Amino acid sequence: MRQITIHEFGTTDVLKLEDAPEPELGPGEVLVDVHFAGLNPLDYKMRDGSSRMCARMELPCSLGREFVGKLVGAADDVDLADLGLEVGQWVFGIRSHQDLRGTYAERIAVSAEHVAPVPGDPDEAALPYFGGLALVGLTAMDAIEGARINKGDTVLVHGGSGGVGQLLIPMALRAGASKVWATGRAANAERIRELGAEPIPYDGVNWREVITEETEGRGVDAVIDTHYFQTFLPSLDHVADGGRIVALPSLADLTPAKERGIEATIPGIAPTREKLDALAAAFSEGSLPLEVSEVLPLDEVGRAHQQLESGHTRGKLILDVRA
Ligand SMILES: NC(=O)c1ccc[n+]([C@@H]2O[C@H](COP(=O)([O-])OP(=O)(O)OC[C@H]3O[C@@H](n4cnc5c(N)ncnc54)[C@H](OP(=O)(O)O)[C@@H]3O)[C@@H](O)[C@H]2O)c1
Repeated sequence: MRQITIHEFGTTDVLKLEDAPEPELGPGEVLVDVHFAGLNPLDYKMRDGSSRMCARMELPCSLGREFVGKLVGAADDVDLADLGLEVGQWVFGIRSHQDLRGTYAERIAVSAEHVAPVPGDPDEAALPYFGGLALVGLTAMDAIEGARINKGDTVLVHGGSGGVGQLLIPMALRAGASKVWATGRAANAERIRELGAEPIPYDGVNWREVITEETEGRGVDAVIDTHYFQTFLPSLDHVADGGRIVALPSLADLTPAKERGIEATIPGIAPTREKLDALAAAFSEGSLPLEVSEVLPLDEVGRAHQQLESGHTRGKLILDVRA
């Protein structure tokens, strides 16, 4: 089977399309023929050696954290019927942070607890979305929980049209937010408005002035910052008394917020079948408006990583593992 393998950490040059042995099923695992794998910034951080997870990675290995594909087998100790799963079914899922094997591969073995059925009888066009749903969906769920949004709260999302940002806006509104502002380049303003937020095109206007003016200096009840680098520190001046800030990058330094008495958290990804089922149901009923900006063939994974590294991806990038 074909997979993307890295033998060393480095630039996109280390991404090699190679033949690899069939994966072996471990206890509690199922076998999946992957069709589409979602791409996330974590993937390039695991490729270039900058993620904390790299210390535990054994090279050579593949990359990628999420997938959609056909269930083709299960370990002897897995009772598929008990899990509501069957061979031949479309499933989507994610690798937990403990499981460092990738998903940019034609066949993978993965914990049966971290896959869920794709509802209904999906047509080919729906599959890439399920390939990119799990990681951003679980992150957004946890970020919304960390932001503790109450009915009537005001929220500022930095990066409203990115992979996670696009889900944060509808989730914040559903959690009861009365108003959501979201930063993004002017090119993404219309998309941010469609998602239900007031766009603040940071490349044309000063977002700090907009928030100060529109909240009459009070600030917002919650900031969810998917960008962090240029936005986290200035955002601390715009958190209302008793407000919260959530920063997405795992290596974000929350100290400056805590020193100012602002509750600050970083979301985690703790996949459960219940959460995956909830994401699938929400996506299928249309309340999670995931956007896939491009589906690329496996041998263009380097170009996909370069796009991710630019920090300006819109929606999700997906790899077509079979193309
Ligand atoms: N803690 C966790 O478990 C977890 C989980 C998932 C992701 N993450 C991390 O969260 C971050 C975001 O992930 P993602 O998948 O959403 O990334 P992404 O799809 O690459 O989106 C990045 C977003 O940042 C925006 N952006 C770039 N520069 C900005 C600026 N100066 N001000 C405001 N927004 C700006 C971009 O919007 P424009 O193009 O409009 O500038 C884009 O919407 C990454 O660092 C990722 O590793 C952490």
